Amino acid sequence: MYNFNKEGLLYAATLGVSFTAGIWLGRKLFLRRRSLIQTFKSHGGAKGDPLMDYVLKNSLREHPVLRKLRMRTLQDRMCRMLVACEQAQLMANLAKLIKAKNVIEIGVYTGYNTLNMALAIPDDGKVVACDISLDFAKIGMPFWKEAGVEHKIDLQIKPAADTLDELLEAGKAESFDFAFIDADKLNYGIYYEKCLQLIRRGGIIAIDNVLWGGQVLKPGNDSDTLSIVRLNEKIYRDSRVNINMLTIGDGVTLAFKL
Ligand SMILES: C[S@@+](CC[C@H](N)C(=O)[O-])C[C@H]1O[C@@H](n2cnc3c(N)ncnc32)[C@H](O)[C@@H]1O
Repeated sequence: MYNFNKEGLLYAATLGVSFTAGIWLGRKLFLRRRSLIQTFKSHGGAKGDPLMDYVLKNSLREHPVLRKLRMRTLQDRMCRMLVACEQAQLMANLAKLIKAKNVIEIGVYTGYNTLNMALAIPDDGKVVACDISLDFAKIGMPFWKEAGVEHKIDLQIKPAADTLDELLEAGKAESFDFAFIDADKLNYGIYYEKCLQLIRRGGIIAIDNVLWGGQVLKPGNDSDTLSIVRLNEKIYRDSRVNINMLTIGDGVTLAFKL
């Protein structure tokens, strides 16, 4: 028989309260983290999280034309597709660090990151920019011109997998320095493998949306989410690359080719 004296009851009650508080706090922190991810995805809009506003105010150094293109893109009804500006800045800094000259952009949309990369590479560098929609890209083109870098951008309007195949057939394996994968999620695995062939040793592949708004925690049957989860797990085990998975934007994995 248990002997529930006064002290024992007090101890049990304290344990119970601590347990409940722990669950509540854990859930709150999880939700806060999720809301941060969502905020980070908000591209530094005026209604952002105060902490995110602070981060942007104290670290974002955006080229004036890049900023103009971001503001123009935010008027588009599909603007949720726009890459996070602080993430774009990180990728530009990485590109400069490895002295990138040849870049692949898979998923251009209005060309914010295309412009960002074109600004980061030397005058004789090239960004092969892949998208299936010319209409989206047309929004960005005047800004590419205004920034004086349109000659560095090779826009390919067709399925990205076809463009990557053409580059491989043209003998361009191992001739690119940086690739950004940010298009249809179902083909992420294909893009990753082809980019791995096209990138030189020491080059970088950045894969966007690897957290997919937190859905990777509960993929269910959604094919886009499953495709992202599959690639995340594959890259984690992939000995051909060193990696980091960052909680910037909607999550980005950096794969450094060995
Ligand atoms: C998330 S947006 C890209 C955002 C862009 N990286 C930026 O800097 O804001 C995804 C783009 O992928 C394009 N896309 C979708 N399926 C594609 C495919 N099979 N091949 C190439 N592009 C595709 C869409 O048209 C869209 O413009």
